[in-house]
Amino acid sequence: MKKIAAGVGPRYPQVVVLVGATGDLSRRKLLPGMFHLSTAGFIPACRIIGVSLDEIDVDGFRAIARGALDQFSTRKVEEADWTQFAQNLDYVSMADGPEALAAAVRRAEEAFGESRRVHYLSVPPNAALPAVRLLAEADLVERSRVIMEKPFGVDLASAVSLNARLHEVFAEEQIFRIDHFLGKEPAQNILAFRLANGLFEPIWNRNFIDHVQIDVPETLGLGRRSAFYESTGAYRDMVVTHLFQILGFMAMEPPTSLEPVPISEEKNKVFRSMLPIEPRDVVRGQYTGYRQEEGVDPESDVETFIALKCSIDNWRWAGVPFFLRTGKRLAEGQRIISIAFREPPKSMFPVGSGVGAQGPDHLTFDLADASKMSLSFYGKRPGPGMRLDKLSLQFAMHDTGLIGDVLEAYERLILDAMRGDHTLFTTAEGIERLWQVSTPLLEAPPPVRLYEPGSWGPKSIHQLVAPHAWRLPFERAWRSPTGGT
Ligand code: BG6
Repeated sequence: MKKIAAGVGPRYPQVVVLVGATGDLSRRKLLPGMFHLSTAGFIPACRIIGVSLDEIDVDGFRAIARGALDQFSTRKVEEADWTQFAQNLDYVSMADGPEALAAAVRRAEEAFGESRRVHYLSVPPNAALPAVRLLAEADLVERSRVIMEKPFGVDLASAVSLNARLHEVFAEEQIFRIDHFLGKEPAQNILAFRLANGLFEPIWNRNFIDHVQIDVPETLGLGRRSAFYESTGAYRDMVVTHLFQILGFMAMEPPTSLEPVPISEEKNKVFRSMLPIEPRDVVRGQYTGYRQEEGVDPESDVETFIALKCSIDNWRWAGVPFFLRTGKRLAEGQRIISIAFREPPKSMFPVGSGVGAQGPDHLTFDLADASKMSLSFYGKRPGPGMRLDKLSLQFAMHDTGLIGDVLEAYERLILDAMRGDHTLFTTAEGIERLWQVSTPLLEAPPPVRLYEPGSWGPKSIHQLVAPHAWRLPFERAWRSPTGGT
């Protein structure tokens, strides 16, 4: 077991009530994540009580957890670590009611001196408030924090009502609304990049930046998630959550300190300055074949793709368009932020030199766990005359030799919630504001346009960004970390 420096983990042992413990997210991310946090020594001590509708016993739950680690853990599972972890698992079926849950938590707490509770609600939206009620009835609110999964409502009214109901049980500082994009290492690196370097912050504004793209195409289809997706769609699933949160980090003013409250405050100011999303600035798409999938309405109007233009009407960003795009079954899986710089005031390069031929010079962040960055610029092609080519400076996380230290997004966020650190979580105010700016679009969504699976979306995406162009697909691939291309 690797020992982690003191101070990184929470002060007290943790009792985790994992509601939705046998579900997809829990098996893919939460159980493997908590296993890694425990075995790597990030959490001093931790017991996990699985809760779900499944009527299984603790051995049944251990078998599910073991299966999840074997299938989804990205690291090798050592038998000794598993044996220890398995001893700390317990299980209560929903059907057993609040008393059984309270008793299980008491048993877990008896093993520790002083401890704290973390309730992780990994449940569909309609099950979140019933789970909160269960926790209240079991009297588990004290000394606890609650981690909630999106979607936080489906529009402004439902988000306000959800927050009000939550606040009847939990205080805002106990609530951790998770947006796993903010737990991704490169998202935090945006802050380091902007705020630790004198070179970039001065040009981070409308005087130097022409437009920004936040582009997250996915090759994935919906698998077994069509029922969830039919009530969500790409805008609610990805934009109002992940893409807007990334935009908040990218666009915020420097906070007064790197503390949770100043950072949330600056992010919320960006959201307050956002102009409402107008339907004419949005392209909604649906891949052909979606309506034939199991669980999908044959006349479904749900979008599996969305591209939009939004604006932040403040001193830093007035007039700079932000183009956002995401969708399922697209040509490539990528997660990038691309910042295009303004062109120089005058071009003295001869016609045909190639200047500007490959778009403006730009900075790109790849938000993959093994993140990359590139700064692309025009430079002279060797030889006679003046021919210009687009060149790039690139950095890959692999270059640091520390890629093994990257915590997966969920690991990082679970650890932060256990430590009570809200920096990478979203607030009720921020979420309500994002629903508010979404209202014109939600009230009058433009019709969905079909696109072929494996494409980049409906054709009208090009008009949306004109006279600019989408950065993806890349003209040149990232250089591989080992050299070559
Ligand atoms: C989830 C969405 O929140 O994020 C999914 O519900 C999406 O539809 C996923 O595929 C993408 O996350 P990641 O970390 O795989 O980029």
